[in-house]
Amino acid sequence: MLAGKHILLIIGGGIAAFKSLDLIRRLRERGAEVTPVLTAAGSEFVTPLSVSALAGKPVFQALFDLNDEAEMGHIQLSRVADLVVVAPATADLMAKMAQGLANDLASTLLLATDTPVLIAPAMNVRMWQHPATQRNIETLMADGIGMVGPNAGDMACGEFGPGRMAEPLEIVANIEARLADGPLRGKRILVTSGPTHEPIDPVRYIANRSSGAQGAALGRALAALGAHVVFVTGPADVPPPEGVEVIRVQTALQMLEAVQGALPADAAIFAAAVADWRVSSASDRKLKKSKDGLPELSFAENPDILKTVSRMPEGRPGLVIGFAAETNDVVDNATAKRARKGCDWILANDVSPETGIMGGDENAVTLISDAGAEVWQRMGKDAVARKLAARIAQALG
Ligand code: C5P
Repeated sequence: MLAGKHILLIIGGGIAAFKSLDLIRRLRERGAEVTPVLTAAGSEFVTPLSVSALAGKPVFQALFDLNDEAEMGHIQLSRVADLVVVAPATADLMAKMAQGLANDLASTLLLATDTPVLIAPAMNVRMWQHPATQRNIETLMADGIGMVGPNAGDMACGEFGPGRMAEPLEIVANIEARLADGPLRGKRILVTSGPTHEPIDPVRYIANRSSGAQGAALGRALAALGAHVVFVTGPADVPPPEGVEVIRVQTALQMLEAVQGALPADAAIFAAAVADWRVSSASDRKLKKSKDGLPELSFAENPDILKTVSRMPEGRPGLVIGFAAETNDVVDNATAKRARKGCDWILANDVSPETGIMGGDENAVTLISDAGAEVWQRMGKDAVARKLAARIAQALG
């Protein structure tokens, strides 16, 4: 729900602007106040009348509109909201934001604002892939701008690929996660998720069957309680949750580096299924079949990320949580693992094939902490995530 929340919505000039009309409706349905700003190019795609009718208030368009300045100056307008949303964020608007240009109302608001900003890019696939746009995105991400989408698919221009604006409900979910009020507001929580891929050569890799479902559910549940979630994910089947800061990695070594770069954090949860070994003999050329026999692979041990963070002499998160997937003697093995790794809590689960847990929707976990072992009944991975998030909130109090 977004009751009492105020969104400043900047509508840029792209065909996706029609979806922003629906976005306004969806936001207001959930109780949000929406103050719309329409760029000159935006008004070529949707009319000021439709925007203001749906928002239930006048739309701001011009920087030097004296009436508006008398009622509300542009600096004040940039500060009234809980979140500034740019949808569609065109290549041009993003370039202006990255450069700090302020030559119209939208860009001036974006430069003057001190509230968080979320962009929903929409543009032709070539424009999206252009190095200039990619450079701008990198700059905007480094500046702490949030992003939702773009999605891949058919485009109005007849091409196919990434560049379609996220759907209104995806944008709403992202906004809800960002503005969630809850006991974890102000807390920074790191979550690792998914498998890692360890290359053998440029086209082959070693992986595992982790779908990333439990990690994604956790990220979502923590964000829903107001946490700022840094979500470090390997190549998972399940998409990352909306409204979290996503860092994508492939290998265990990259995951460790991303985790270390994301600290300090109030809590860290290691839900990733990290490969124990990497191929130390990985080739930078594709291995060929040869008459001389099969290729020989040699392995090196990957760093244990959970253990490394648990045993950090300085800057260790106050609460470090690991998972233990076991097939037998679950509690004994997980209790020993907790001591070995040095983490605070372990969530142990039985992943023997007959449980159907690995890759399934449900999980049956035992929480192991200083207080001993606490068995949780079998429930959906989302419910496990919500229960764990509530426990974390209690512990971080
Ligand atoms: O040792 P094992 O893989 O069973 O431990 C599982 C826990 O340790 C999980 O929380 C997993 O995310 C974490 N882990 C890790 N780095 C590794 C291996 C496991 O963070 N290299």
